Amino acid sequence: MVDFIDADVAPSRNTGQVRIHGADAFAGMRAACAMTAQCLDELHDFIVPGVTTEAIDEYVMAFAERHGVIPATLYYRGFRKAVCTSVNHVVCHGIPVDKPLKEGDVLNVDVTYILGGWHGDSSRMYRVGQVRRAADRLLKVTLKALEYGVNAAKPGNTTGDIGHAIQTYVEGERCSVVREFCGHGVGRLFHDMPNILHYGRPGDGIRLQPGMIFTIEPMVNLGRPHVKVLSDGWTAVTRDRSLSAQYEHTVGITEDGCEVFTASPHMVAGDDI
Ligand code: MF3
Ligand code: CO
Ligand code: CO
Repeated sequence: MVDFIDADVAPSRNTGQVRIHGADAFAGMRAACAMTAQCLDELHDFIVPGVTTEAIDEYVMAFAERHGVIPATLYYRGFRKAVCTSVNHVVCHGIPVDKPLKEGDVLNVDVTYILGGWHGDSSRMYRVGQVRRAADRLLKVTLKALEYGVNAAKPGNTTGDIGHAIQTYVEGERCSVVREFCGHGVGRLFHDMPNILHYGRPGDGIRLQPGMIFTIEPMVNLGRPHVKVLSDGWTAVTRDRSLSAQYEHTVGITEDGCEVFTASPHMVAGDDI
């Protein structure tokens, strides 16, 4: 049983209720998410062989200072960096380090900027120089999986419809969906209700309504779906060490579909899979 609450009168902590946001929240999220998307756009030219993930962290920090935004991950639950960088078989929550990226690596960069109290959460994959065919295909499948999820994010559908759309497509491409991490409500809070699972059955979960704001962020593996978290308490890796990819958007449910707040022309799946 889930209930709903008007975001303007709700307490500012996660109460287990799903917030229904108004026009002011949509405007705030639009602005915050535009900052996140712009930083991720700029990183396309910055990420080349030899660059360290530490340097990506510095870039994300410097961008924040230039634009008057705050990286939400810094000091979040003990995380000490401005960004998550997840290379090759790292699934998510990779910690930036002083080690150069090499030709053929693929990595996820996950940025969340806070502007005016609103959180803009998005991540993309980057190819370091030329990558292998299997890696290229995994990235294309994962971006397309996110698009299937976004297309299912509309009033009348449920959260389970989003997960089902993603899972069906991914497994049809002989890849697997990570179960341990999910999308989440987002707004004035970084992680809020509802949970958005990237697998599931049609009609399961909660019914989507205009005013809901959440992320969709499927993690897709070339091998088995299972992950483990390393002893640093953050870095999640595939148990079979197969490659993993992730793309993330923040969306707001509208009367007839959803608005993709973190959209960018750099983040559109082609038909060439
Ligand atoms: N940005 C991640 C997400 O998509 C969360 C990162 S939390 C951190 O929800 F602490 F690992 F940075
Ligand atoms: Co997220
Ligand atoms: Co994120």
